[in-house]
Amino acid sequence: MLKKVDPEKTETWEKLLRYYKKMKNIPLKELFKDTARFDKYSVKFDNILLDYSKNKIDGTVMSLLIELSEISGLDRAIESMFAGEKINETEDRAVLHTALRDLTNTELILDDKNILTDIRSVREKMKVFSCSVREGVFKGYTGKKITDVVNIGIGGSDLGPHMACEALKHYSDKGPRVHFVSNVDGSHITETLKHLDQETTLFLVASKTFTTQETMTNAQTAREWFLSEAKDKEYIKNHFAALSSNAEKVSQFGIDIENMFEFWDFVGGRFSLWSAIGLPVAISVGYDLYEQMLKGAEKTDIHFKNEPFVRNIPVILGLLGIWYSDFFGCECEFVLPYDQYLSRFPAFLQQLSMESNGKSVSRHGKNTGYRTAQVLMGEPGTNGQHSFYQLIHQGTHMIPSDFLCAVHPLNPVSDHHDKLLANFLSQTEALAFGRSEQEVIEKLRSEKRTENEIERISPHRVFPGDRPSNSIIYDRLTPDTLGKLIAIYEHKVFVQGVIWNIFSFDQWGVELGKELAVKVLDEIRNGNGNESYDVSTAGLISYIKEKRGF
Ligand code: F6P
Repeated sequence: MLKKVDPEKTETWEKLLRYYKKMKNIPLKELFKDTARFDKYSVKFDNILLDYSKNKIDGTVMSLLIELSEISGLDRAIESMFAGEKINETEDRAVLHTALRDLTNTELILDDKNILTDIRSVREKMKVFSCSVREGVFKGYTGKKITDVVNIGIGGSDLGPHMACEALKHYSDKGPRVHFVSNVDGSHITETLKHLDQETTLFLVASKTFTTQETMTNAQTAREWFLSEAKDKEYIKNHFAALSSNAEKVSQFGIDIENMFEFWDFVGGRFSLWSAIGLPVAISVGYDLYEQMLKGAEKTDIHFKNEPFVRNIPVILGLLGIWYSDFFGCECEFVLPYDQYLSRFPAFLQQLSMESNGKSVSRHGKNTGYRTAQVLMGEPGTNGQHSFYQLIHQGTHMIPSDFLCAVHPLNPVSDHHDKLLANFLSQTEALAFGRSEQEVIEKLRSEKRTENEIERISPHRVFPGDRPSNSIIYDRLTPDTLGKLIAIYEHKVFVQGVIWNIFSFDQWGVELGKELAVKVLDEIRNGNGNESYDVSTAGLISYIKEKRGF
């Protein structure tokens, strides 16, 4: 079980607080007088390099942060998670997404059962199914090959596979096209189905619970669309498969249990990419490459379990996040992939981090009083540069940012990659070291500006610098590297949750809105009285009803 230590009440926290007061006034420029800084604060793991030297840290900060993780029982917490202890206490569940990518032939006993046996058999079923769809052995009801696969799911049943299919698009040459429908807004499914053909479309209904309103509504619409052409319900088995842990609901929906790919309670939604939820990835790029992604994640698991904290990438990233959130008071963090294939990585990380650690009640059941997860956002570089980077360079917030880039491009077109790399490198340099007023004045003078102009313009052209970032460089974006990167961030989130003394694997915060929506739906559908609502909600409902002619 996880230790319950209030980090704020530890002596180490106090020491960090005192040290922060000193560190905040030492600019990065000053810290970089130490020419060994890159060697001291960078870590290599296989084909991935993390440079965290452009952070407002020194040896003392790092030692204190590591001390904090030790006091919090991080070591033991890692062991507990991998061993399948029920560390998701509020739901009384183990947390074993790592078992899904355990490709060894060993065993892992949970509730008297070797769960690796079940995991292997679902993986085998995924292998056979994905191959037969890709090779056209699995056929639609008129005997045609499947050309389009539509994944219907939301949250963890959408974001992970959607992100991974996008990230590995380069490798999807012979696979069918894969589409993702998540939003209950009817426009999402309508626009997706517009160009598809009932005879050649396969639906994967992805829902752990198989009760999620958005997914079930979209799945029902997909079923009607299919039957409008196919007519006979017998054909549903040729066009619908389920990725779920709820066999009863799957068969109630009318999907043949033969076409169900199971996963289990010990897999949280936002960690479910490694389960049957990854089926669209296997169909898109082929099972072997899908398994390479799992292998990559498994390598990160081994790194996370075995590497001392000082060289442990998820631990370092997690600690830096805490340093900025709790001591510098940063409310936001950015993840900026200089890799178009990773365009959906920030969206995936938003759920991973904010649904896991966006909590304010500690494992003691009391208000934390200290900050937990930051708001996470991101966009691929260089697009972000022409959008919101103004704020990270010159705004009033300090936003620690992770920059990611491949050394080698997957598409070596002209000098695109040189330019991408140049931007990637320059941005972190500009953020860290900025441009002083003196430098601005000299530059303007060299441009032959008048002294009047210089006085007027120069304050606006100063870059304060001293803005922290991490650089993560990988050789090229392969399935193995993608697996490693995803698992690095998963474990970063775990590290932070352990130290913040919160439960990272539940998500009670999404429930209230869902419950209220049931009541409001009745109102919208049947026009029942609205006296039990607050005046704002009641006013909005009346306005909508009036406009809809109720
Ligand atoms: O939004 C809450 C949530 O439970 C997520 O944690 C989960 O990923 C998503 O809904 C989808 O749930 P399901 O896979 O059960 O449809």
